[in-house]
Amino acid sequence: SSTKRLAVLEGDGIGPEIMSVTLSVLEEVSRHFQIPFKFEKALFGGAAIDECGDPFPAQTQKLCLESDAVLLACIGGYKWDSLPRKQRPETGLLGLRKSLQLFANLRPAKVFDQLIDSSTLKPEVLKGVDLVVVRELTGDVYFGEPKGISLQNSKRIGYNNMIYSEDEVERIGRVAFEVARLRNRRLCSVDKSNVLDVSQLWREVIVSLSKEYPDIELSHMYVDNAAMQLVRNPRQFDTIVTGNLFGDILSDEASMLVGSLGMLPSASLGKPNSPGVFEPVHGSAPDIAGQDKANPLACILSAAMMLKYQFQLDEASHAVERAVYRVLEKGYRTSDIMSPGKTLVGCKEMGEQVLKQLQLIQSSE
Ligand code: NAD
Ligand code: IPM
Ligand code: MN
Repeated sequence: SSTKRLAVLEGDGIGPEIMSVTLSVLEEVSRHFQIPFKFEKALFGGAAIDECGDPFPAQTQKLCLESDAVLLACIGGYKWDSLPRKQRPETGLLGLRKSLQLFANLRPAKVFDQLIDSSTLKPEVLKGVDLVVVRELTGDVYFGEPKGISLQNSKRIGYNNMIYSEDEVERIGRVAFEVARLRNRRLCSVDKSNVLDVSQLWREVIVSLSKEYPDIELSHMYVDNAAMQLVRNPRQFDTIVTGNLFGDILSDEASMLVGSLGMLPSASLGKPNSPGVFEPVHGSAPDIAGQDKANPLACILSAAMMLKYQFQLDEASHAVERAVYRVLEKGYRTSDIMSPGKTLVGCKEMGEQVLKQLQLIQSSE
C-alpha cells in the first residue's frame, strides 16, 4: 500500500512525552501490518510561538493540508496565557480545525471495567457506559462574529456571538445520525432551546432531519439537565450531538465516567478523504509536564481512531485498542488512574507496556 503521510504536532506541556510513545506504537503497527507511514513533525502551539511568533505557522498549515492525517498531542501553557488572543496556542488549534474544515468531533467515552475504581463516581453507575459525544467543531460562539472587548460608555464590554446556520446544524446532525446508526440507534440532541434562539434553530433542524432517519430514536435534552444526567445515569446515553461549546464541556465531564481525562481520545473529521486531526480530549497538563507522569493512553487511542476513521484499517485499530485493554488488565496505571493494588508506572513505561502487548497480540495471530 502507498505511504501515508502523517503530520505530527507534539505541541506543548506533556505533548512531546505522550507523542513519543504514540509514535513508537504506530511504528510497531507499521511493521506488523506493513503500512508505510511517513511521520513529519511540525511546530504548533506555544512551541511555534516561541520559534516564530505564530501558533499555527504557514509551513505547518501547508504540511497538514498535504498530509493524509494529522496527529496532535496538545497545546497551551501558563507561559503564553497573557499574550494577545491572536498569538495564543488555543488560537492556533482553532485555526487548524477551521483550515481543515473539521466540523465533526467524535469523543467516545467507553468505560473499561478495569478502571471502574479509578473514577470518583460509584462503580454501579459506571458499569457498561459506552457513549459518544458528537461535537460540532467549527461554529458556535468559538467562531461567531462580532466578538471582542470594547468600550461602551467608558466601561469595557466583552462579547462573542453564538451563531449557527441551518446548513451547519444539518451537516453535524447527519454525522450524528450516521454514527448512531452504527451504534445503538439512540441519539440525544443537547441544546438550550428554552432560552437561546440559536438552540431553537438547532432543534428545529435536527427534528426535520430525523424524518430521514426513522430507525434512530431521537430525544432532546437541555444542556443543564444533560450535565446532571451524565453523572446521575450515564448509561441512558448512546450518541449525543451538540454544539461546540456544550460539547467541549460535556466531553470533559464524560472523561470522569472513564476515570481520567488522560483516557479520552478524539477524532476531528471534515470532508471524506480529507485529512482529519486525531487528538486527545485533554490539554497540555502543565502541572505534570516534563515529569514522565502523563497518561499516554488518550493519545494512543486517538492514533487508533486515526487508523479506523482515516484509513479504514479496522484490524490495526482493534489491535491497538486491545493492547491498551490488556495493559490495564495487567494492572499498569499512571498516577491519574492509580488505585490500590495496581502498579504505578510513568508515561514511558506505560508506552513500553502497550508496545509489548501489541507485539504479543500480533505474534499470536
Ligand atoms: P488539561 O486537560 O491540560 O488538564 C486538566 C487536569 O487533567 C490537570 O490536572 C492535568 O494534569 C490532568 N490531565 C490532563 N491530561 C492528562 C494526562 N494525559 N495524564 C494525566 N493527567 C492529565 O486542562 P487545563 O489545565 O485546563 O489546561 C491546560 C492548558 O491546555 C491550557 O493552556 C488549555 O488552553 C490547554 N488545552 C489544550 C487542549 C488541546 O490541545 N486540545 C485541550 C484542553 C486544554
Ligand atoms: C479541546 C480544548 C480546546 C477547545 C481549546 C484548547 C481551544 O479545550 O480541544 O477540548 O475548547 O476546543
Ligand atoms: Mn476542551
